[in-house]
Amino acid sequence: MHIGAELPSNEELDRWLGEPVAALIIQSNIFITNKKGYPVLSKPHQEFIKKMFNIGCQIVISGQLGIKQQFNYLGHLYQNTSSLTPYSSDFISGFEDYLQTPLQPLKHNLQSYVYETFEQDPIKYYEYQKAISKALIDKYEDRVLVVYVVGAGRGPLVDATLEAAKGSNIKVKISAIEKNENALPSLLFKNKEKWENRVTIINEDMRLWNPSEKCDILVSELLGSFGDNELSPECLDGAQKYLKEDGISIPSSYTSYLGPIQSRKLHAEISSIRKNNDNCNFQKPYVVQLNNVYSIAPPKALFTFVHPKKNLKESNDRDGFLKFNISQDCVLHGFAGYFETVLYKDVRLSIVPESFSDGMFSWFPAYFPLIKPILLDKGEEIQVNFWRCCDKYKVWYEWCMTRPYQSIIHNIKGEMYFMSL
Ligand SMILES: C[S@@+](CC[C@H](N)C(=O)[O-])C[C@H]1O[C@@H](n2cnc3c(N)ncnc32)[C@H](O)[C@@H]1O
Repeated sequence: MHIGAELPSNEELDRWLGEPVAALIIQSNIFITNKKGYPVLSKPHQEFIKKMFNIGCQIVISGQLGIKQQFNYLGHLYQNTSSLTPYSSDFISGFEDYLQTPLQPLKHNLQSYVYETFEQDPIKYYEYQKAISKALIDKYEDRVLVVYVVGAGRGPLVDATLEAAKGSNIKVKISAIEKNENALPSLLFKNKEKWENRVTIINEDMRLWNPSEKCDILVSELLGSFGDNELSPECLDGAQKYLKEDGISIPSSYTSYLGPIQSRKLHAEISSIRKNNDNCNFQKPYVVQLNNVYSIAPPKALFTFVHPKKNLKESNDRDGFLKFNISQDCVLHGFAGYFETVLYKDVRLSIVPESFSDGMFSWFPAYFPLIKPILLDKGEEIQVNFWRCCDKYKVWYEWCMTRPYQSIIHNIKGEMYFMSL
């Protein structure tokens, strides 16, 4: 890609972020000389080049005069490049555009190193502790409050509960429920060494557990990149029977978001996966640190789950559609998926770029591809339809475009991808 003295609008430049640009060729005569006599680039050129460094772009300087100084200047720009995504570069390095299969912690037992990574998050547990404190204070009566931490993993939410109780000087009785036996030794060890055996540890599926006492507060973190995709709704429906009528669930709700994106790189990555019978690889969600991506329009809220449910018989099926206006010609390759959760009252966590919880890295975005990329014209309106479907054994998503024209329904009947109950 050649860069001349004149640049198009920022919006048009941003579209290049969705292209696999290997190198920018800069004419040496577009450098200007600063007060100290060194070659520099105009502000708009600097901004664009910094963005392109983020997608791994190389720079070729074409021309003759003073190339060494120009090269040094570009090195300086590179050092001062900040990440295009809201994630801190310390945590995303090496994961850019790397497609991962979403975790299914209900079906598979997580390994200790996976918990270890979660537990490094500086924001998530801090916000949970804030939410638990507020809930304890709201529930305070002159008695011991019962708190169940369901899906406790290795216990960070138990730590958060104990800290919150200590901070608000409220007595709590805590049980930690975890079905994964890989996490049990850590829970038992912590109970003995850190929690002074104050926590009751239960190794059971929360949907089957049947305690004799109901709790005041039910704490869980069963959320995936798209909110409900690790089956939090189904697990918490099972746990609701032991939450008091006026009890509090933390989280109290979570909302899934979708935003249209252009990314020739992600499309090529999926195309290169060897076995692709019936385009199966384009009919499943991924988790991916979106980098070589142009965001065609800001994401919008799709559907929400609220806990506790008013009526447990209410289905966890969802359907919705979203419309987006297209501000410039581009190519639609798929949809980025995000979530935002209200833990309690004003305490929230979000991976939606517009409301991102700064410093958090527990969740990368989801990606729902389209089999066939769609050429879009400026001024057009697009519509995506989306379904969350459940049966007795599994949950799956289906999606299709209905504007500018009808695409096939992706992952119909969950034949290509589903989450096991
Ligand atoms: C995303 S991890 C969170 C772990 C921990 N609370 C944390 O915040 O680090 C979800 C945990 O819930 C557990 N889990 C998922 N479904 C469960 C179920 N139905 N019953 C009990 N535990 C479950 C998983 O094994 C996993 O440990």
